[in-house]
Amino acid sequence: MYLNFLSMKTKFLNLLLVCCFCLVLANEEFCPQNCECKRSVAQKGPADFLKLKCGDTEKITELDEIGLSNIASEIIQFNLSNNLLTLFEPKIQLIALQKLDLSRNQLKYLSKDQFSELPNLRRLDISQNLISQIDIFSFSNLKKLERLKLNLNQISFLLEGTFDPLISLKQLEIANNPLICDCGSLWLLDWSQKTSVKLVSNPKCGSPQSLKGLPLRKLKLSRDKDCTNAHKYGGASIVVLKPFDKQIVFEGIPSNYNVKHLL
Ligand SMILES: *[C@@H]1O[C@H](CO)[C@@H](O)[C@H](O)[C@H]1NC(C)=O
Repeated sequence: MYLNFLSMKTKFLNLLLVCCFCLVLANEEFCPQNCECKRSVAQKGPADFLKLKCGDTEKITELDEIGLSNIASEIIQFNLSNNLLTLFEPKIQLIALQKLDLSRNQLKYLSKDQFSELPNLRRLDISQNLISQIDIFSFSNLKKLERLKLNLNQISFLLEGTFDPLISLKQLEIANNPLICDCGSLWLLDWSQKTSVKLVSNPKCGSPQSLKGLPLRKLKLSRDKDCTNAHKYGGASIVVLKPFDKQIVFEGIPSNYNVKHLL
């Protein structure tokens, strides 16, 4: 009987050891393949938070390659810089995420509600991609975003109101984009003044040729005088041309645009 009890005790201890071992293993395995994980203790509350950086050994082409389901609620920083992502559309909510680095990928456009699963994001870096189109509802839901980097992309045109949902925004970086400086982009200056959002790195005009290189903030088009036919939200726009600029190909500009010779 006593021997039996002893053997049971050993069995129990063994089981306990195995369990501990499993726990240690499970803890080590929280990090998805091809990612680097760092735990950090939260400033508030008992939970640990996770900093995640993926794509070091092999470049990531789709977000689905990363097993996020077990750690989604703990990720506070997510670094996906220097990968081959053409889309970023998380299917699960990343509730703790504050800092997302998507720089140096292959994103071509930002679509409606693209970041809706990231309600606590504070910094978003999408610089050095191939973005030429941004849906007017791309940034809806990013109410806590403070810094947005869109520099070094292919953005020529932004719809008025694109940044309106970003009620906490302090800094916007859109330098090094081929911005068309016409009445359609005037709103950007008005908006940044009205909201005190800082346009950092002195964004410049990419076209028309006569204004190329001119800092956006020096653009002296007057909404009343020069842009009277321009309407809000993708309506007609006036492209400012010097009289000798007769042969300009308007790539991607709809034919309903009015071209008015002003200078
Ligand atoms: C992300 O990783 C890259 C190196 O791959 C680094 O240069 C960059 O600073 C990191 N981003 C953040 C926000 O820490």
